[in-house]
Amino acid sequence: MQIVLILHSLFRWAVLIFGLWTLVNALTGFFSKRTFSSNDNRSNLLFMISCDIQLLIGLILYFFNGWFERLKDLGNNMKDANSRFFTMEHMSVLIIAWVLVHIGRASVKKAQTDPAKHKRMLIFFGIALLLIFISIPWPFRQLIERPYFRWFN
Ligand code: HEM
Repeated sequence: MQIVLILHSLFRWAVLIFGLWTLVNALTGFFSKRTFSSNDNRSNLLFMISCDIQLLIGLILYFFNGWFERLKDLGNNMKDANSRFFTMEHMSVLIIAWVLVHIGRASVKKAQTDPAKHKRMLIFFGIALLLIFISIPWPFRQLIERPYFRWFN
């Protein structure tokens, strides 16, 4: 499970990089009114794929690293901020972000005009990226802090 945890920790950077790239494309596309390019499509495709992989790794940790078991003692689990975060908050907010990324990509594809595509990119991927950012257990977040980079120890 240590390897899976290292992968999940490391992969957050891929999600954030592709998410930021998508957001920058959405902002520049929307405000400069340029045409929707293959670069726009590529960035949000990679953002979606990285979220899919991160969800899969997260689910493995959730079910095979003891977090799901903790829900059996719901009362005590809710009292402990760290347990509550990893069994409930982290998972549910990030699944919402994942759903938004998928709906967003389908919605961008469906939009008829380039400004509409960039606007939808901005809304869906912008909100998803914000949810992802606030749900990461950054080292500066008391009670739930985890390292920026994890390695074998
Ligand atoms: C974009 C989505 C996600 C990001 C960026 C993300 C990021 C992270 C990070 C940085 C950690 C701390 C890793 C460490 O201790 O070094 C973590 C832990 C964890 N994540 Fe995620 N995560 C995401 C989605 C999910 C999802 C969807 C689930 C569950 C279905 C999940 C389940 C977990 C669990 C259970 C832990 C604690 C692992 C352990 O200590 O055993 N994550 N996540």
